[in-house]
Amino acid sequence: MVPVTLRVNGEMVKLMVDQRTSLLDALREQAGLTGTKKGCDRGSCGACTVHIDDRRVLSCLTLAARCQNREITTIEGLANGNKLHPVQAAFMQHDGFQCGYCTPGQIMSAVALIKEGHAGSTDEIREWMSGNICRCGAYPNIVAAVQQGAREG
Ligand code: FES
Ligand code: FES
Repeated sequence: MVPVTLRVNGEMVKLMVDQRTSLLDALREQAGLTGTKKGCDRGSCGACTVHIDDRRVLSCLTLAARCQNREITTIEGLANGNKLHPVQAAFMQHDGFQCGYCTPGQIMSAVALIKEGHAGSTDEIREWMSGNICRCGAYPNIVAAVQQGAREG
């Protein structure tokens, strides 16, 4: 076990973790941040997407012990108080989900790709969101939500 201090959504979180603990497990099971979802746990679905230093990463493939002094943002850190992030609001407005399990990862990817300038067309959005799988097949609504988020973000 090693001590690790994570900076998550602007707050310092001190944990003791096994060196092999993924960031996903540290967030969900130790930090109590269960908004980030575990789908495949092997880098194939995107459900666990978070931001580290403003770049999207798969938290299931990231070791928590290597995240010291990095700025981690999870779905819980997007809203501004009671005001949803524009991309969160767009997902609500466009029904960009069905069961909702993939949604936090979809939203974290969408926020990042908009910042990266990859929301210029529906084809571009589909390409840059392709790492986020939705088993409910809500893709048309997700693309519409990302387009709106890009306009308003
Ligand atoms: Fe990380 Fe599926 S849980 S990619
Ligand atoms: Fe169910 Fe995407 S909304 S998996």
